[in-house]
Amino acid sequence: MEENTSQKLELGVNIDHIATLRQARGTTYPDLLEAAFLVKEAGADAITIHLREDRRHIQDADVYAIRKQINIRLNLELAATDEMVKIACDVLPEDACIVPEKREELTTEGGLDIIGQFERIQKTTQQLTQKEVRVSLFIEPNIEHIKRVPDIGAPIIELHTGTYANAEGDDQKRELDRIIEATEYAHSLGIQVNAGHGLDYANTKAVAQIPQIQELNIGHSIVARALFVGISRATRQMIEIMNEARGI
Ligand code: PXP
Repeated sequence: MEENTSQKLELGVNIDHIATLRQARGTTYPDLLEAAFLVKEAGADAITIHLREDRRHIQDADVYAIRKQINIRLNLELAATDEMVKIACDVLPEDACIVPEKREELTTEGGLDIIGQFERIQKTTQQLTQKEVRVSLFIEPNIEHIKRVPDIGAPIIELHTGTYANAEGDDQKRELDRIIEATEYAHSLGIQVNAGHGLDYANTKAVAQIPQIQELNIGHSIVARALFVGISRATRQMIEIMNEARGI
């Protein structure tokens, strides 16, 4: 079938930084469940949360509460560790995105090293797949890395858009071209392509226009805008940008 840009692009809203605000004071607010509910009502397709090893924002109880109380597709980001696999196999999110994790980093810096960490990532993918959790690999838009994805067995990749988001001018155009090339290549292998990291109200449109991308996961910019316009409006405004890019 001919690819066309009018295919809807899905949005997973990453609400980690609502938990960051809560953890900064150890309060019970802002309420993550309320945020998840409002994001869902505003039209998002999924809630994305990252349970980090150091539990700096999302807590175990948040994962279980969202899973149980909010009827929306859950995309759980996790490191390829035994602890996280155990939790994911208990929570059973629809999607699990395997991400690299370093304790000292501010956010997820760079994609998975799927060549150096091949066996660990393959094992984690198999464990989650056995539980019918769909696995996505968070990787750089790098053809050599994408070539290894079929051997790992994950049906989805999420392309790291952080370098694109941080670049300017011609550099940004070059990064966009890398994302386009990586998307087309992965799509030709039958891999579902998602993208995310650093996407905001100015730089999302160009990524959303890549027709083979199926989903964007966006967090920081939406939560930041929510401070001024509320989470519902912030979510709807991002959906509008994405729909416009797809001619919807
Ligand atoms: N996708 C993945 C795999 C991530 O790790 C993150 C950050 O947690 C995001 C998307 C969202 O990035 P941002 O908060 O910069 O929108």
